[in-house]
Amino acid sequence: MWIQHTGKDTAKREYDKSLRSLGLDYLDLYLVHQPLGDYYSSWHAMQDLYGEGLIKAIGVSNFHPDRLVDLIIHNDVVPAVNQVETHPFHQRAADQQLMREHGVQIESWGPFAEGRNDLFTNPVLTEIGAAHGKSVAQVVLCWLIQRDVVVIPKSVRPARMAQNLDVFDFDLTDDEMTRIAALDTGTSMFFDHRDPAMVSWLGGRRVD
Ligand SMILES: NC(=O)c1ccc[n+]([C@@H]2O[C@H](COP(=O)([O-])OP(=O)(O)OC[C@H]3O[C@@H](n4cnc5c(N)ncnc54)[C@H](OP(=O)(O)O)[C@@H]3O)[C@@H](O)[C@H]2O)c1
Repeated sequence: MWIQHTGKDTAKREYDKSLRSLGLDYLDLYLVHQPLGDYYSSWHAMQDLYGEGLIKAIGVSNFHPDRLVDLIIHNDVVPAVNQVETHPFHQRAADQQLMREHGVQIESWGPFAEGRNDLFTNPVLTEIGAAHGKSVAQVVLCWLIQRDVVVIPKSVRPARMAQNLDVFDFDLTDDEMTRIAALDTGTSMFFDHRDPAMVSWLGGRRVD
């Protein structure tokens, strides 16, 4: 549910629109895209739809720990998922631990950092891939899954989609996990969701 669609009535209307677009009777999972705008009212609408069985699970995206905990303590339904930027250069171990403590499943968007920071030619990931006869993309997905992170890689190419699904026949060693852990920069490869200029831009008002 995009930022401009927050609010209780708007959220329910957008849910109906999504159902019609998809040609479905219910949704498996529906997420609040950002903790911006009147997302509390959206959450109340989503809790209602969830209670009526029209959504099987409801969740959030791009919620920093403070926003996540605030939403949890003031509402009835704990988000099933928090979809956040997670990849070798932004690993979010502490955020994942907090989510675990609250029963929220971390899900990675941008598992390949969309190729930023030369991810697909990174020497450590390439060497680990060679040791297993796997690509860098497969190493990254295996590493995330081994960390209990749900992954949603994107590709428009069928061969890469097949490659990205073929990651369940190998495991990374403790040493390999440690080497990948050392690639963490602790920061986003995209932008800071808390930057006021970005908040304004996302909300539809540019600040130059
Ligand atoms: N909640 C949010 O705020 C948010 C933000 C961003 C993204 N997302 C979601 O996250 C999902 C994935 O993220 P993303 O698309 O941003 O980034 P991503 O999955 O990290 O990277 C996608 C890029 O990697 C390439 N790629 C995919 N598989 C590959 C492979 N095996 N080998 C080499 N290159 C490969 C793709 O190219 P080709 O397509 O040409 O193969 C594409 O350029 C999407 O479903 C997206 O909607 C959510």
